[in-house]
Amino acid sequence: MSSAAIILAAGEGKRMKSDLPKVAHAVLGRPLVGWVVAAARSAGVDDVVVVTGHGAEQVESLVPDVRFARQDEQLGTGHAVACAEAALEGLDGPVVVLAGDVPLIRPGTVGRLIEERERTGAACVLLSVEFSDPTGYGRVVRDGDGAVEAVVEQRDLTQDLLGVRECNVGVYCFDARSLFSALREVEPHNAQGEYYLTDVVGIMRSAGLAVAAVASDDEEESHGINDRVQLARVAGLLRRRVNAAHMLAGVTMTDPDLVWVGPDVTIGRDTVIEPMTFLLGSTTVGERCVIGPDSRLTDSAVADDALVDSSVVVGSRIGTGASVGPRAYLRAGTVLCAGARVGTSVEIKKSTIGAGSKVPHLSYIGDAEIGEGVNVGAGTITCNYDGWEKHTTRIGDGAFIGSDTMLVAPVEIGAGSATGAGSTISKDVPPGSLALERTDMRIVEGWAEKRRLERERTKDED
Ligand code: UD1
Ligand code: CA
Repeated sequence: MSSAAIILAAGEGKRMKSDLPKVAHAVLGRPLVGWVVAAARSAGVDDVVVVTGHGAEQVESLVPDVRFARQDEQLGTGHAVACAEAALEGLDGPVVVLAGDVPLIRPGTVGRLIEERERTGAACVLLSVEFSDPTGYGRVVRDGDGAVEAVVEQRDLTQDLLGVRECNVGVYCFDARSLFSALREVEPHNAQGEYYLTDVVGIMRSAGLAVAAVASDDEEESHGINDRVQLARVAGLLRRRVNAAHMLAGVTMTDPDLVWVGPDVTIGRDTVIEPMTFLLGSTTVGERCVIGPDSRLTDSAVADDALVDSSVVVGSRIGTGASVGPRAYLRAGTVLCAGARVGTSVEIKKSTIGAGSKVPHLSYIGDAEIGEGVNVGAGTITCNYDGWEKHTTRIGDGAFIGSDTMLVAPVEIGAGSATGAGSTISKDVPPGSLALERTDMRIVEGWAEKRRLERERTKDED
């Protein structure tokens, strides 16, 4: 028996005041709908169908490894779920339905709904919560025996139901067959003229099927997002949740309120994350590292015992025991081998810095292959761009690049060679040589005194 989830993500989200569909707005680099998909997956659901409509192509481009069903006109949540029926043909297990704008929903809660349905055999199990302010939510109406009888939307509430505080969160587990057959009976006779998913509750009850509710005591996870104030609030809660999981797994955060870690990032034990640090995308950090303060790492891999201080690192690999910063910028394709050191105000792009090599100060290194044990003096620059194309610089093991060397690529410095400070190197240097490119230095002795006398003489002539 396989299970499925339908995630409703076709709405516009008018109150976001955005050109972007609501569920495409991101928290920690992952779109809202992506958080809901992840919760369904972690709950063990096999197959996920996301219903898209408003900005469908954009939403579909953001969520990998799911199937999509289109709802071209947004006629209500019931209509949206019905749009996923064809995609789930032949499903013999339970189907979970979730809104795409409840990113805080916990996998454990989805799991509880699935278990409760299995245990009771109910056609529908819904999640309910007593909100301190129930305004806007559908209310769960129970019969004299306390069984769920119906869900009534806010706008359709009658006087006698105004006091009901138990709300429908919008997260359900259904028996697939009962769900789709009940949906065929839903009609848009309500205040909004929409096909309400919630009407299936009453329809199932009339057909003699059981409907159960799992009451949640966690208001927080049930909140949907309608505007950007709520988006920021939810983002803060998700961030704290991610940070807490890392801390409980052995990561130190000096001040977790000042650390932003994406949901797919991994961090090893005894690593310290200092304040104002962002670890985003597919970044991985090893054990015993110190990252930050004031650093941003995106899609990068950091091995054990490395240090990154006040730096920006994108699409790069930092080897064991390597150190970066303060104020370095490692751009895509940078590889620092074990023990390499990149220091202050250094920019590196698409280059490999060999084991134990150093680029300590004020350099630009682009499209370079640097061997092991190389020292690159302060102010060295690879002139890698001729206005049309990029060219490669190669520096052999143990070379010593003097300060302020201009390496005009394509160029190769042989192993063990040195360049004199201030040289512009535009020809290959064989191994073990010195390359020096500067005019001979001249010393004019007594120049200052001569100049003073010259000036006094011209003044007398005036
Ligand atoms: C819904 C529930 C309400 C519950 C509340 C919880 C119904 C009728 N009501 O109301 O009982 O308390 O959620 O937040 O279901 N969507 C589509 N296509 C549509 C309409 C909506 O995909 O045609 C999607 C939206 O993008 C959204 C979700 O379904 O992600 C919920 O829709 P929304 O209109 O916000 O429902 P509510 O009025 O909040
Ligand atoms: Ca809503």
